Amino acid sequence: MSKIKTVFQCQACGYASPKWLGKCPDCGAWNSFSEEKQSPKALKSFGASEPQPLSRIIGGKEKRTAVGINEFDRVLGGGLVNGAIILIGGDPGIGKSTLLLQAVAKIVKSQESRVKGQISDTKLQIPNSGLRTVLYVSGEESPEQIKLRAERLSIDSDNIMLLPETLVENIIRTAEDLRPSAVVVDSIQTIYTEELTSAPGSVGQIRESAAKLMFFAKRSEIPVFLIGHVTKEGAIAGPRVLEHLVDTVLYFEGDRGHPYRILRTIKNRFGSTNEIGVFEMTDEGLIEITNPSELFMSERPLGASGSTVIATMEGTRPLLVELQALVSPTTFGMPRRTSMGVDFNRVNLLIAVLEKKAGIHLGGMDVFINIVGGLKILEPAADIGIISAIVSSFREMPMDAKTFLFGEVGLSGEVRAVAQSEARLKEAAKIGFKKAIIPKNNAERLKNDLGITIVGVRNVEDVIENIRI
Ligand code: TYD
Ligand code: MG
Repeated sequence: MSKIKTVFQCQACGYASPKWLGKCPDCGAWNSFSEEKQSPKALKSFGASEPQPLSRIIGGKEKRTAVGINEFDRVLGGGLVNGAIILIGGDPGIGKSTLLLQAVAKIVKSQESRVKGQISDTKLQIPNSGLRTVLYVSGEESPEQIKLRAERLSIDSDNIMLLPETLVENIIRTAEDLRPSAVVVDSIQTIYTEELTSAPGSVGQIRESAAKLMFFAKRSEIPVFLIGHVTKEGAIAGPRVLEHLVDTVLYFEGDRGHPYRILRTIKNRFGSTNEIGVFEMTDEGLIEITNPSELFMSERPLGASGSTVIATMEGTRPLLVELQALVSPTTFGMPRRTSMGVDFNRVNLLIAVLEKKAGIHLGGMDVFINIVGGLKILEPAADIGIISAIVSSFREMPMDAKTFLFGEVGLSGEVRAVAQSEARLKEAAKIGFKKAIIPKNNAERLKNDLGITIVGVRNVEDVIENIRI
């Protein structure tokens, strides 16, 4: 085999050099070089493609198979598409390998029952047919370690094939021989191709290996899952550079100190990107949470000041969560402002609005805000929840346990309408809430047939007036 030539190319401007450089002599970018294959052939066109009228193209509906974990299928857009390449990113230790091992077990189980059905139908024997197996490639853990995890999850099967391997060419060769119904690569950062000389985990290696796996997926119609670790800086060195390449990008999020995990769609060529799946990490692995609102409400202290409930949207899913504030006198110097789960700057802004528009002076007060359960809420609909929690704690005035809120607050203290108010209201009604404090504009447009008392508020003062019990 002739040696494939590689060059180091600046990712910012495209300057090529035969050696790695720390600084690009052309554009001056630092640490921007990554190794690339030098293949002038790749620049050639696909050959003689003729334009064709759209109406003549026969659209096939993509074939989907359900994984069998509802929350997982939901974020995939209704199941696994043949030949799809799916990237699952997340912090180390969040539970990616656990999730995929559980998914693999489900896929194998449904394949087994399907094959069993075929055998009894047609008397066809398929001895160890690849179709029934799933290939789990691990570049991080030994088969023994995976076995330990599987035992913990009570997973055992002849059809889950483990392969400790990091060379992408070998992985693809094995997969081509085995023809499994899915391939999992744990994690893409450990995989390398022999065509490049740079170390596994470098941008060039990750991109090249993932590209090879993608061509394999498309060619063989076998779905491939890639697991990717997020690095400390937040950007996934690696997975981020893959986002444009893969069909679907899912992030597995959560707080290590809490058992809840959210699987979120960031990109999906085969479905909506507005989906989330909620899981709980237990001693026996991940459990689906079909009704997250109920769970987040279960530990709420009743009659405590500083605790409010907001109806927020996670994608298309309404979610009721508890928001807590603690306001206490500053002991020395500068007042402290801390927020967990909501944007820090947003909290500061709302505190300023409270001071200016409602005359609530928090200058000598520490303010702490927390979203219970380790959730992160980025939508402004949480604003009046934050305001109410602060006022409730400041005045030592507990809120009614059956009241919830949503609404955005503007800089002049006005309360603005938010989207999907009906879905939020319905979710709250399901859990038994009786009173809603919502933007006046939303209230006017709502049909109220849910047995909830709706209070429309125009500004921050209205909110404070109405949270009193
Ligand atoms: P893991 O799937 O190895 O994380 P990742 O692949 O994202 O790095 O899971 C890591 C954590 O999950 C680990 O700290 C142990 C915990 N865990 C449980 O709590 N219960 C379980 O059943 C399993 C398998 C793991
Ligand atoms: Mg892992």
